[in-house]
Amino acid sequence: MLQGQRILLIVAGGIAAYKCLDLIRRLRERGASVRCVLTRAGEQFVTPLSLAALSEHPVHRDLFSLTEESEMGHIQLSREADLVLVAPATANILAKMAVGLGDDLASTLLLAASAPVMVAPAMNVRMWEHPGTQANLATLEGRGIRRVGPAEGAMACNEYGMGRMAEVDDILAAIEAFFGEAGRLTGRRALVTSGPTHEPIDPVRYIANRSSGKQGHAIAAALSRLGAAVTLVTGPTHESDPPGVTVVRVQSATDMLAACQTALPVDVAVCAAAVADWRVAEPSSGKIKKTAGGKPPILELAENPDILTTLSATGIRRPRLVVGFAAETEQVVENAREKRSRKGCDWIVANDVSAVTGTFGGDENQIYLITADGPQATEAWPTLSKHEVAQRLAERIANALETAR
Ligand code: C5P
Repeated sequence: MLQGQRILLIVAGGIAAYKCLDLIRRLRERGASVRCVLTRAGEQFVTPLSLAALSEHPVHRDLFSLTEESEMGHIQLSREADLVLVAPATANILAKMAVGLGDDLASTLLLAASAPVMVAPAMNVRMWEHPGTQANLATLEGRGIRRVGPAEGAMACNEYGMGRMAEVDDILAAIEAFFGEAGRLTGRRALVTSGPTHEPIDPVRYIANRSSGKQGHAIAAALSRLGAAVTLVTGPTHESDPPGVTVVRVQSATDMLAACQTALPVDVAVCAAAVADWRVAEPSSGKIKKTAGGKPPILELAENPDILTTLSATGIRRPRLVVGFAAETEQVVENAREKRSRKGCDWIVANDVSAVTGTFGGDENQIYLITADGPQATEAWPTLSKHEVAQRLAERIANALETAR
C-alpha cells in the first residue's frame, strides 16, 4: 500500500508517456496522491486533460505561469512530495538532471527537489547505449537517484533492444519497495571507510594505490538512503560527497584510524577503504632533494595499523556488525575466508581486482559475500554496478541488524 504517499510525477516527452495514465490510476488505487508536471515535449504524447482527470489535480506545465504560481509555487510543488518520479525519463531530461539545468518547470523542480527522485528511463536503444547517456546515469546514481528499468524489447521505432520504459507493474513494485525500505535503518549509526590512503614521503610526495572510492562512497549513500546516520571516513578521491552523509576527509592510515575511532559507537562498520599496509617510517619534513650524482633515497617502511582488525576488537564499543573487504588477484574466496577469521570481522566482501576485471576504478563489481564459516555461507553475486552492489549490501545489513535487535 502507498497510503498517504505524495508522488510528484514528471512526464517527459516519450512515446511511453501513455503508460503514465495507467500508472496514475494504479498509484491512486493504492492510496497515493499524484500531482503531475508535463514537459512541452510530453504534451505531444499525452494531454494535460487526461493527467488532470486521472490525478484529480491541475497539471503544471509552466515555469512562469501566474495562475499556477498563485495556486502553488514550483518550489513548493517539489517540497510537498515524498517521491519525485520521472516517467518516462528521456535521454534529454536525464542529461539536464546530470548537469543541473533548470530551463523549464520540470528541470527546475528537479533542481529544487529535496525528496528522493526515481527515474524510469525510456528511449531508443542507441540513445540508451550512448556513452553520454550512460555517463549521465552514472552521475545521477552516484547522487543517490533511483532507477527502474529500462527493459529490453521491441520499440516504437521498429528497433529492438534496451530502452523500453519499465512496465507499470515494475514501476509500482519499485515505488513500493522504496517506501518499504526507506527508514529501515533509521536510528542506526554506520561508519564506512572508502578510497585509498596517501602515506607521505615528504611534503610533496606520497605512496598511494589505485582505489577510486566508488564502492565505499556508494555503500555510504545506500546506508543513508535506508535512514542510517552515516559517517564516511575517506582518503583522497574524486567522488562527490553522498547526500546526507557526514564526510571526514583524511590522508593517511593513521588519520583514518583516528577518525574511525572518533565516529564510534556505531551499529555497523564497513571497511571498504584500500588502506596502505605500510607508511614511510620517518617522512622528511622538507622536500627530499635530487642532487647531481647522488644516490636515490632508501625509504624505510613501517607497518600501518589495521583499521578493520582494530574495529573488530574494540570490546564493548565493537560495532554489532563489522564488514571488511578483500581485494584479491587469485584464490579470491579462499584468501577472503582466511582474512575474515584473521581480522575478526563478521562479513567479508571479496572481489577479484586483477587488471582484467577492471574493478579498480571501474563502475561494476562482481563480489562474493562471506557471512560465516563454511561453503554455504559464501554467496557469489552476479556482476552488478557498484551502486547495485551497495544497495543490496545495505539491504543485507538492514536484515542483519533487524535480526540482531
Ligand atoms: O589485508 P587487506 O588489506 O587485504 O584487508 C582488506 C580489508 O582490511 C579491507 O576491509 C580494508 O579496508 C581493511 N584494512 C584496514 N586497515 C589496513 C589494511 C586493510 O582497515 N591497514
